[in-house]
Amino acid sequence: MENHSLITQGIHYVGVQDRRTQLFEGLWSLPDGVSYNSYLIVDEKIALVDSVEAGFFGQSLKRIKRVIGDRPIDYLIINHMEPDHSSSIALLKKYYPDMILVGNTRTFGMLEGFYGVEGEQVVVKMGDKLCLGSHTLEFYITPMLHWPETMMTYDTASKSLFSGDAFGCFTALSGGFVDSQMEIEPYLQNAVRYYSNIVAKYGPQVQRALKVLAKLDIEYLCTLHGPVWHEQIPFMIDLYNKISLCEAEEGVVIIYGSMYGNTEEMAEEIARELSCNGVKNIKMHNVSTASPSHMLADVYRYNGLIIGSPTYNAELYPGVEAMISRLKGRGLKNRYFGYFGSFSWAGTAVKHLCEDFAEKLKIKVVGDPIEMKQSMTENDRVEVARLAKEMADAIKVPLCD
Ligand SMILES: Cc1cc2nc3c(=O)[nH]c(=O)nc-3n(C[C@H](O)[C@H](O)[C@H](O)COP(=O)(O)O)c2cc1C
Ligand SMILES: [Fe+2]
Ligand SMILES: [Fe+2]
Repeated sequence: MENHSLITQGIHYVGVQDRRTQLFEGLWSLPDGVSYNSYLIVDEKIALVDSVEAGFFGQSLKRIKRVIGDRPIDYLIINHMEPDHSSSIALLKKYYPDMILVGNTRTFGMLEGFYGVEGEQVVVKMGDKLCLGSHTLEFYITPMLHWPETMMTYDTASKSLFSGDAFGCFTALSGGFVDSQMEIEPYLQNAVRYYSNIVAKYGPQVQRALKVLAKLDIEYLCTLHGPVWHEQIPFMIDLYNKISLCEAEEGVVIIYGSMYGNTEEMAEEIARELSCNGVKNIKMHNVSTASPSHMLADVYRYNGLIIGSPTYNAELYPGVEAMISRLKGRGLKNRYFGYFGSFSWAGTAVKHLCEDFAEKLKIKVVGDPIEMKQSMTENDRVEVARLAKEMADAIKVPLCD
């Protein structure tokens, strides 16, 4: 057996790096790729924990064979059925027909529905154990993190928690598997982006899972995307605790749409006034060019949010509409919110931002909305300065449940 892929006692990394896909789930940009992690636990019995996206199956199979040679895989632990981790299972079954599938009551219906895969199964419940020899696996059912069948698996021997997508992170791995082997700051940033894109709707479920996991002594946090967390475990647990409660840092995100530049000019002016009022973290996003993935990440990072939109056929500008729909879908809360809009003959943008967004979420409106006709007047500039000052003052006080 080789040590090339060893993480810790008996645990090997057999995942793959995807530097081809541009949009994860067809939605979330991957400027630096993504990893599909998969782990082998080698003992008297061999368990594979999750598998990889089918297009990368060949690479993962070679990694598996480098570790275990011709030994069979005894168990496949299925923590998550989303196809980025499950679409290889039918292929795996061809190479390892006697492999026993381990999941919970929600797992196997999906396995048959997606791939028509059947075969010997072990259905586990919360707290069930599976002995591999010196390693004993314990199962923790964590529904809606972020699918109904999601569960986590804890290995008592190596103190490794296999957490599924939870604690995951965009950006492919470049050589190292464990956080202590790499420059970690970019990954930490991308863990926030991953959370805001994939997990954010399920804050209460994250809170529930954190309470269950608090009693575990975790040395290695083995997620399905990104580095294995080792040194950064306290940071990641703290991040998930805060972000799942929608707590945020001091700063303001300005998201706007604009066709001919007038709404954009107001957005720029607001940013300038925020800066004059001492705000250092100001992130601006034009919805027509910014990636939704990065916009969401900033909204989840900072406690101030300002949205601006032109009126477009009596509606919000489409890119703004799409963004507020994403934020509503995630139940964003605990944010200071300011808004502004523009029109030329019959403005509805401000009204929509109020009725379709501000009134729908648990967010605190700051100041009065600004409604601009055609282009910015001196009076609009005064209102911009006032809104920016009120926002700069507001964000100094953290908002929480
Ligand atoms: C396709 C299109 C549809 C528009 N629909 C409306 C509308 O329904 N009501 C309105 O008052 N103005 C409407 N406008 C005008 C813009 O909202 C207004 O000119 C605004 O200032 C544009 O902001 P911008 O310069 O940031 O693009 C529309 C403009 C365009 C190009
Ligand atoms: Fe997933
Ligand atoms: Fe995933």
